[in-house]
Amino acid sequence: MTGRVAGKAALISGAATGIGQSIAVRLAAEGARVAVADIDAEGGSDVVAEIEQVGGEAMFIALDVTDEDAWRDAVAAVESTFGKLDILVNNAGIAIVESVDKMALKDWRAVMAVNIDGVFLGTKYAVPAMRRAGGGSIVNVSSILGLVGEAKVSAYCASKGAVRLFTKAVALECGRDGSGIRVNSVHPGYIHTAMVEETCRRDFGDIPTGMAELSKAHPIGRIGQPAEIAAGVLYLASDESKFVTGSELAIDGGYTAA
Ligand code: NAI
Repeated sequence: MTGRVAGKAALISGAATGIGQSIAVRLAAEGARVAVADIDAEGGSDVVAEIEQVGGEAMFIALDVTDEDAWRDAVAAVESTFGKLDILVNNAGIAIVESVDKMALKDWRAVMAVNIDGVFLGTKYAVPAMRRAGGGSIVNVSSILGLVGEAKVSAYCASKGAVRLFTKAVALECGRDGSGIRVNSVHPGYIHTAMVEETCRRDFGDIPTGMAELSKAHPIGRIGQPAEIAAGVLYLASDESKFVTGSELAIDGGYTAA
């Protein structure tokens, strides 16, 4: 197989739909063997079939990113099936919208469990596997809301801000230990996925109105597509970015430029 990540083995969390699906499909198209990891077995299996249909190599792994044992098993499954782990994309994430004075502690904890505990656990088990592979690339999907705040999503913003600095701390750790492991974060603007359709319905009444309003917040004049995030992740996952670690790549149509 040829391609920009040919011969590499990748695990992508939350890859059954949306941005994660697009990342899985793109990495596979560029020659990686891909583990599609998600709590959604049906959606995940569909993504595996989509990759295999065009000659790519993929497998589904049932993974709840909040479950430490499941992470240990997932990384072991990638190593036993693909022989190694070169790329981890910590993509799974959730948002719960509520004003800070009404937010239940259990909801705050649910957001933190997926968005930051999940990234920590994935990294914890990927790093030793990548050491065994002689190096690797970890890409953490944060958000524009890990760079700037927004009303009524304080838990989400706190979790995504945590992903940004966790990324830099681990990049320093891995950069200095000679492991050849790079760690970077990606910060998407609003991207057309199920998550954003839900935002449109909830905040603006319907999807077209919501899309129009959200588009105005991006200087480029539109929201993004999952493939535009996948293109950035591909760069960070590939050896083309071998001098890049601890960086934060905003792919946001200029949202955070102001
Ligand atoms: P989505 O809601 O369309 O898909 C998320 C996927 O993660 C689903 O397949 C879901 O089953 C999976 N997932 C949820 N909880 C999980 C868990 N505990 N363990 C394993 N998998 C789990 O989301 P979307 O929009 O594709 O977002 C992907 C990432 O990008 C998230 O981290 C999100 O915060 C981030 N992001 C999304 C933006 C957007 O506008 N869509 C903007 C900025 C960041």
